[in-house]
Amino acid sequence: MMLVMSDLDDKNKELKKRLRELGAEVSDDDDEDEDDDDYDYDDDDDDAIESNQNMTDNPISFKDKVVIITGSGGGLGKQYALQYAQRGAKVVVNDLGGTLGGSGSSNKAADLVVSEIESKGGIAVANYDNIVTNPTGILQTAINSFGRVDILINNAGILKDASFAKMTQKQFEDVLDVHLNGAFKLTQLCWPIFQKQKFGRVVMTASPAGLYGNFGQANYSAAKLGLVGLCETLAKEGVKYNIKVNAIAPLAKSRMTETILPPDVLNKLLPEKIAPLVLYLTSDIVDSSGSIYEVAAGLFAQIRWERSGGLYLNPNKSFTPEAILNKLKDISSFDPSTTEYPTQLNDYNFVYSKTSMLPENSQGSIKIKSLKDKTLSLKK
Ligand SMILES: NC(=O)c1ccc[n+]([C@@H]2O[C@H](COP(=O)([O-])OP(=O)(O)OC[C@H]3O[C@@H](n4cnc5c(N)ncnc54)[C@H](O)[C@@H]3O)[C@@H](O)[C@H]2O)c1
Repeated sequence: MMLVMSDLDDKNKELKKRLRELGAEVSDDDDEDEDDDDYDYDDDDDDAIESNQNMTDNPISFKDKVVIITGSGGGLGKQYALQYAQRGAKVVVNDLGGTLGGSGSSNKAADLVVSEIESKGGIAVANYDNIVTNPTGILQTAINSFGRVDILINNAGILKDASFAKMTQKQFEDVLDVHLNGAFKLTQLCWPIFQKQKFGRVVMTASPAGLYGNFGQANYSAAKLGLVGLCETLAKEGVKYNIKVNAIAPLAKSRMTETILPPDVLNKLLPEKIAPLVLYLTSDIVDSSGSIYEVAAGLFAQIRWERSGGLYLNPNKSFTPEAILNKLKDISSFDPSTTEYPTQLNDYNFVYSKTSMLPENSQGSIKIKSLKDKTLSLKK
């Protein structure tokens, strides 16, 4: 059986144009010799397809879908790769194969996952590119091997933990580079393809450390919450193209957590328990977009922003620190009758029309200490 690339040529050309705009070197050989780019399945692949067709009797199927999973040579990503392949997806198993801190590289991790998928009759290809320095290589592997991309799981990650006082700029930037900038680069490369085909699914891998903070992980927390913001915005921009973008904050056993949690706890937090949510969030039928899910040990819980009913003050000259202090309780009161769960910017015009009509603000009885003799430094 042969999947001919010619009907994918237009998409391929557009991708090449995009890759060139992004500074990548893209060869034209395949334009000249179409046969080089044909994806030839051999007999084993036929068996694989048959067995996958049986598996695609599941209501959620990924038959004919191509999924890129970054950092899927181990840990959570490997489990996603196995489960996507089991449901008929063609999987790009990307992994740099470095250490937890991001140094070194090896083909072994990705190769082993591909072998495991193939031994079970699935379809996968390995890619060893570093998401930071060669995201285009990852996408090229998907296009060259399978002719398309439908789903992107931004999962690759490293750790460079240090308390904030001791954290170097390099430790901070390296972690942001892999988690946040890497996800940005590859998602942006896939985006025009998703727009054109009116289908795309993206998962950003955030973390409870990003949502709540965690000692020693200022770099990691910043990157992970950055991914949540990226997810929320892309979900809005993706609406008219049927591109759904969600974020997960998982906790599971992997080399990342094995020094943090005791083995008896970790053994209950298996990485394969994260995969079902990821598969659902990238299926044809998913409604959710722009949502955040905390997931661990069989718990699947959506996280959302909550705004207290809040305090409305007239922004005139009676709008002072004392006026706020006087009503501090209102600012932080999450009374269920007045709280809201915002998913977009507030209507600030409406807010102003409401606050500007309010009477003078009471200054209360508590006085804020004078700042006399204190030095205030204002940096430009
Ligand atoms: N395990 C947890 O409890 C947990 C909790 C919260 C978030 N996460 C996130 O889940 C994701 C997967 O983590 P994991 O626990 O499976 O750890 P892991 O170390 O097993 O997996 C991360 C993979 O990413 C690969 N990688 C690192 N840098 C790369 C790069 N520049 N290019 C390509 N591949 C690269 C690594 O080689 C590794 O195989 C990470 O984003 C992590 O931050 C994990």
